[in-house]
Amino acid sequence: MATLSEAYTETPLHLQHIIPIDFDSVEEVPQSHSWPQSDDESPRRMFNLDGDHFSIPAIDLDSPDAIEMAGHACKIMGIFQVTNHGIPSSLLREVESQAWRFFTLPARAKVKALRSPSGATGYGVARIAPFFNKFMWHEGFTMMGSPLEHAREVWPHGYRKFCEVMEDYQDKMKALSERLLAMILKYLGMSEHDVDWPRLRSNACTALQLNSYPRCPDPRQAMGLAPHTDTFLLTILHQNHSAHGLQVHMEGRGWVPVFPMNGALVVNVGDMLHIMSNAMFPSVVHRAIPSENTHRLTVGYFYGPPTDFHVGPIHRLTQASGREDAAQFRSVTVKDYIQMKAKNLDKALSMIRIR
Ligand code: OGA
Ligand code: NI
Repeated sequence: MATLSEAYTETPLHLQHIIPIDFDSVEEVPQSHSWPQSDDESPRRMFNLDGDHFSIPAIDLDSPDAIEMAGHACKIMGIFQVTNHGIPSSLLREVESQAWRFFTLPARAKVKALRSPSGATGYGVARIAPFFNKFMWHEGFTMMGSPLEHAREVWPHGYRKFCEVMEDYQDKMKALSERLLAMILKYLGMSEHDVDWPRLRSNACTALQLNSYPRCPDPRQAMGLAPHTDTFLLTILHQNHSAHGLQVHMEGRGWVPVFPMNGALVVNVGDMLHIMSNAMFPSVVHRAIPSENTHRLTVGYFYGPPTDFHVGPIHRLTQASGREDAAQFRSVTVKDYIQMKAKNLDKALSMIRIR
């Protein structure tokens, strides 16, 4: 069966879209990283939040209402935070410290883990970079399972701890993703049979992404991560700092910050859950903004079905009653959808839309 990495091999990248600049060596934002500013789109808006006390819901997973609240949040916003999620805070700290250990290396050491042009894992700029004519204030490290091959290049004698921590974190994130997904299906009134749950869970496509947003001399000009939706079913994001950087786009409100909440993880709906829910759950558009004073670190975990799984609106959801229930998307394999997204980014969803 095709692996997730194989889904990316058809869109090889140029080196300029792989190697991040050496952020340690720049004292001002270079032209290549300076984004045009319009009133609405400008990262400047982040300094203009007076009176905007909007915040995304925090859900205690031990609460008896957790299913109802999570489902409702998916429907209204496509994003929420969870507490009592069972991920030990010591593990979160270890992931952070291993991520720092990597990102604080000099540029020449980090490129030893460089993603290959047709590869999916390793160090590099964000995968969405080729769709924008400016570069982002960001460097990332992507893992799918064991990061051994990359870690061994970077630390020939000291790779073990990094691998152990990253593998442990992926195992626990996978279990949490399954738990959240089961809750969401329950909210939709779906049985495991309705979504072929055993097959969905077997060989699930997952990725772990370390994101680093170095301190930026002028954040008003720069973009940490350009606006996008996530491809898979669910994303679980850990943000390390009290400095915010993640923003979600809300109809009628514009860009809204998602402030880190101590001990909470951010969960958002991705394209595939949007499709399966027949657009009941929005695939939330989000971006990240760098800061002048803080080097920000986040850890994203992406959970999706196996590559040969067919993703389409859940059959029973589209059989209910009237026309408004009719399927809005044709079904595609996970592999095909990942390829469509790699080639077309935000146009991918409209390519499978049928009404
Ligand atoms: C991502 C993402 C946001 C952040 O990795 O897809 O949206 O704040 N990250 O790092
Ligand atoms: Ni994202």
